[in-house]
Amino acid sequence: MRLLIFLAALTTCLARDIPSNLQRFYDTVKNAGPCTGDNLLQDGFFDQDDSTNEWSYCDRNFTGRGLYIKGPGTDLANMDIDCDGDQQNADPRCLGSSDTQPATAFRRQVQQLSNITDLNASIHPYVVLGNVGHVTFDPRDHGIEPLSVVAVVCGGQLIYGIWGDINGNDRMPLVGEASLALATACFGDSMTGSNGHDEPDVLYLAFAGPNAVPRTANWAARSYEEFEASITALGDALVARI
Ligand SMILES: *[C@@H]1O[C@H](CO)[C@@H](O)[C@H](O)[C@H]1NC(C)=O
Ligand SMILES: *[C@@H]1O[C@H](CO)[C@@H](O)[C@H](O)[C@H]1NC(C)=O
Ligand SMILES: *[C@@H]1O[C@H](CO)[C@@H](O)[C@H](O)[C@H]1NC(C)=O
Repeated sequence: MRLLIFLAALTTCLARDIPSNLQRFYDTVKNAGPCTGDNLLQDGFFDQDDSTNEWSYCDRNFTGRGLYIKGPGTDLANMDIDCDGDQQNADPRCLGSSDTQPATAFRRQVQQLSNITDLNASIHPYVVLGNVGHVTFDPRDHGIEPLSVVAVVCGGQLIYGIWGDINGNDRMPLVGEASLALATACFGDSMTGSNGHDEPDVLYLAFAGPNAVPRTANWAARSYEEFEASITALGDALVARI
């Protein structure tokens, strides 16, 4: 029981309140309709299998630049669950997922920064950005580096993730996906490989430039909490520039 209370307290303090500048950005972007003109990087993406293809990757003209995902009207993006990565002793909540890959896109980069072999969807709060297949969008073309910090506004809180995987476009080019660890931090234990968060109210904001990569993060962390604590200072510094 004491351990549970301790864990609950730890989770609460890692779930950060949304700073006012980020809340302003969230509200402005949400209410601005689809992104257009200079803000539009690429359109034609789906939020889920039965949505329209009105989702886009958009640019944000703030110091350092970055990108975010936006749909039509007041829609941001949903959160599907990704369990890709090291599958040894995979989380039972991942077993329902039929499209799990044994490796994430930046396995090599992870190995260069750490002594682990790949990201672990149960530990690392990673975001899936970019698409490969018949529709291609590479955030690297817009200055976003692999494994860099992504601010995620979900369930009324701010969670820092990292760009850890790319969407494979099995049937259609989808956006709005994150690791089980990130989804759990956002929405709790009901998240599983086959049950994500359907409401398109999540902001994914990726930061450009080499300084957004948390090189000294605790990659070998044994829990989400440990890893998250190691990227929070960098996340706060990036969000402060919005
Ligand atoms: C981007 O920001 C810079 C500096 O704040 C400003 O001078 C420029 O006009 C902005 N560009 C667009 C397209 O908003
Ligand atoms: C991934 O993390 C989970 C949760 O801590 C753990 O049970 C599992 O063994 C880890 N997988 C690998 C390959 O380390
Ligand atoms: C990997 O590095 C971490 C420190 O970053 C260390 O605690 C851990 O024991 C190392 N694991 C292995 C298998 O070498």
